Amino acid sequence: MFGFRNIESRIKKEQQFREVQWHQDFWKCIEDLARHPVVLRMKLYAHHGNTNCYQHCMNVAYYNYKLCRFMHLDAVSAARAGMLHDLFLYDWHTHAKKTGDHFHGLTHPKTAYKNASKFWKLNRVEKDIILTHMWPLNFFRFPKTKEGWITVLTDKFCGACETSKRR
Ligand SMILES: [Fe+2]
Ligand SMILES: [Fe+2]
Repeated sequence: MFGFRNIESRIKKEQQFREVQWHQDFWKCIEDLARHPVVLRMKLYAHHGNTNCYQHCMNVAYYNYKLCRFMHLDAVSAARAGMLHDLFLYDWHTHAKKTGDHFHGLTHPKTAYKNASKFWKLNRVEKDIILTHMWPLNFFRFPKTKEGWITVLTDKFCGACETSKRR
């Protein structure tokens, strides 16, 4: 009995240590993006519920990192692209009225990709994640990477949680 408890508490401690370690590793790989003035501008725009665009991207980046690292995929690219995937830099609630673009859902991945490309050299996985995260809305532009498919899920999951938290 004593031995079993010992093992149990050791496993718990190791899990806690891994949690902290992964959290630190996550922050290290997105820190430059998270502090960049262009990315910080996303804080100005409401996104889902009471969540702004910056917080939403941070949520997606975090889940991307954890899932991809757990599955031994490219967690760094998944986190970085998660942080940039909605870098369209306008309030989508008023966007159609102001610009006449009624297809924000379809057009914003390309806008985010263009904005992000101005400041960072994006790799194949990052490009795929940003351009295809709205699947199946843009049905013919589906992910070509596993990290892209994961982002399709994390983006919807985070969006649903953020919307349901609205008070
Ligand atoms: Fe999006
Ligand atoms: Fe998103």
